[in-house]
Amino acid sequence: MNLTRHPRPRAWLAAIAAVLLYGGTAAAADLSVCIDRSSPTAAMDTRLAQAVAQHEHAMLQIHRFDGSGDDDGFDLDHFNKLAGHSCDLVLGFPIDADAHGAPPGLKASTPYGHTGFVLVTPSDSHVASLDQLPDGSSVAVTYQTTPNLYFIDHRNLVADVHLSDASSLRALAGHKVQAAMLWEPTVRRYLAAPGTKGRLRIHPLHEPHASFNLVALYDARHQAVADAFEQAIATMQASGRLAALLAPYARTGAVEPVRPAGTAWTRRSARTFARSCAGTTPTADKSRRHRKDDDDPLPALYTATQADLGQAKFKENCAVCHGPHLEGRAGPALKGANFASEEAQFHVRDIFTILVHNMPATEPGSLPHDDYVDIMAFLLQQNGYPAGQQQLTYDEALSSKVKLLYHGE
Ligand code: HEC
Repeated sequence: MNLTRHPRPRAWLAAIAAVLLYGGTAAAADLSVCIDRSSPTAAMDTRLAQAVAQHEHAMLQIHRFDGSGDDDGFDLDHFNKLAGHSCDLVLGFPIDADAHGAPPGLKASTPYGHTGFVLVTPSDSHVASLDQLPDGSSVAVTYQTTPNLYFIDHRNLVADVHLSDASSLRALAGHKVQAAMLWEPTVRRYLAAPGTKGRLRIHPLHEPHASFNLVALYDARHQAVADAFEQAIATMQASGRLAALLAPYARTGAVEPVRPAGTAWTRRSARTFARSCAGTTPTADKSRRHRKDDDDPLPALYTATQADLGQAKFKENCAVCHGPHLEGRAGPALKGANFASEEAQFHVRDIFTILVHNMPATEPGSLPHDDYVDIMAFLLQQNGYPAGQQQLTYDEALSSKVKLLYHGE
């Protein structure tokens, strides 16, 4: 089982695996914590660890790791086996208040703080909520982060998707957009840099999956350390010290869900799901007709009419998350070398399985069979596969072992 794409801080999970793999073994310390040095809350996590250690008169050891890595998930069994060998507690782990708890196999402390995605506006703007933005306003969001979804409920706003938070912030600072929706700690860190103070204003986002509780993750064997941590936190909360330690990145205590859990999509990995359904293994496809020889003609799997119909259906059902040009927004890009790569090992049936079982992510399986087939034809066309005389059928798409590799349009 793999965990993939934690909403924004998705890299955290992989990051923890990295710690467990590379962090080494804790030396004789009374309290050892893992801190993601790539997280905007790293400084806060460090202060918190120091304060807890001081409170407990404990020797502190900090394992720093780079959690900015890879978003392709990792093996949980492996993770669980390793958990606890590198540190007692992983600090600053954000858990979506509207969704799940700790990663399976691990325990989470009582939340000690909360933060999340926020609306950011220039300080001279009077807008304080999404509803106050005039129709047609451009709002910057970062690729594959949760706020891309908010355009579904706010169709009067225009998404301006950026590849990084830094780029979204630049668009806002340069007045290219009216607002941005970003991870609060990143914005706070930006505002702490010289010359940016007071430039932007931060407002809460009352949308699903915007609020996160901060916890420490631990392996059950470290229950005693976790208990001591929670006690120290309770004392510091009572004295007001905790609030000072968390500011300005987070506030103390936990937040409640905006909507009951399970309304939006589940964050389970579509790729993993398709693999397990289709039984695809990451071994090379040996089928003779479709060797990856450059002069091997690509198979014509669909008709031009199907692709045309598919384009319209894609626009209607998928573009809000995958972008009108398949470039990716809340969901990944569905075109190009990053999507249909040799490395991804996709076959037509894998992608089609994802479509029919998981998409549209808000209402999986809700489209008629023909619509899914037409959309598949459109995806093939956009990834460079030729149209032919023979129609693609639902059953063929579900069983096709043709490799999906980007061939330019
Ligand atoms: C509400 C947003 C949303 C809508 C609408 C949506 N998707 Fe997705 N889609 C996602 C997200 C998020 C993922 C990534 C899920 C994951 O990897 O766990 C995804 C993943 C996929 C993938 C797998 C891509 C990969 O590289 O792993 C395909 C294919 C896909 N979507 C196709 C579609 C199609 C076709 C439609 C329309 C019928 C659609 N999606 C509608 C959000 C959406």
